[in-house]
Amino acid sequence: MARKKITVVGAGHVGAHTALWVAIKELGDVVLLDIIEGVPQGKSLDLMEAAPIEKFDSFVRGTNDYADTAGSDVVIITAGIPRKPGMSRSDLINTNVGILKTVVEGIVKHSPNAHLLIVTNPLDVMVFAAWKFSGLPSHKIMGLSGALDGSRMRSFIAMELGVSMQDVHAMVIGGHADEMVPLKSYATVSGIPVGQLLPADKVDAIMARTKKAGGEIVALLKTGSAYSAPSAAVAEMCEAIIKDKKRVIPSAVYCDGQYGVKGMFIGVPSVIGGNGVEKIIEIRLDEGEKAAFNASVAAVKALIDELKL
Ligand code: LAC
Repeated sequence: MARKKITVVGAGHVGAHTALWVAIKELGDVVLLDIIEGVPQGKSLDLMEAAPIEKFDSFVRGTNDYADTAGSDVVIITAGIPRKPGMSRSDLINTNVGILKTVVEGIVKHSPNAHLLIVTNPLDVMVFAAWKFSGLPSHKIMGLSGALDGSRMRSFIAMELGVSMQDVHAMVIGGHADEMVPLKSYATVSGIPVGQLLPADKVDAIMARTKKAGGEIVALLKTGSAYSAPSAAVAEMCEAIIKDKKRVIPSAVYCDGQYGVKGMFIGVPSVIGGNGVEKIIEIRLDEGEKAAFNASVAAVKALIDELKL
């Protein structure tokens, strides 16, 4: 049986760490592509030299040539500039949409059947742009949002309660921006609603922290944005596709009327499997959550309209 092929575009912190998680999980062989000569090659070689210790046989290869990505099953796009302190994700829009166009065209030319996983910010806008640039069916394109934002919220709940990270579940929907919508009623610890375990003000503080969690890391690092959690989260999505796991992961996916959204990508609970986005699950939201979700959709839509794609 032939191995799967996973391309990671962008050999910065997010890209190199994504290659690491994908290789450790042995999801397939990995091609790490970047325009900077030597960097993807060096980071890939470094990863191969860790393989005997971590016992993985995924082959990781660095390149500057799109031809080497040919026949990829999944392509994870991290290329773009990150935020600096004080910037919002939307400040990156013009630079990153230009980079994305070149990347998507180069990728689709060599891998017309690949699934595209987008990490570049501003996320929901970039997923839409990638869909337009690629000409691919919308179920083959999705963006990293809820896997990351939900993991951040889960980690905050687990740290607050002093319980195992793996027992905490939490869901964040809407755009991957400060307007994202953490859902209090869907946060649980082994099925126990978090409201039974923490006072309301603590839960509210965790939700507020979740919305700004990416910015909290940017402010601390001063140069660049988060990469460990983003890379782990996108590798989780890649695994769901490669292994056809039917994972339920809120992700930026194409809505065709679900949640009252039509013709754009936004973070909603989705079944992710071998056919990409296999289903959108419509869950009950209270009035406040609906209003917050609609505001988040409007913010993303305003950015998309500006792009005139
Ligand atoms: C963050 C970036 C990846 O949330 O958007 O850290």
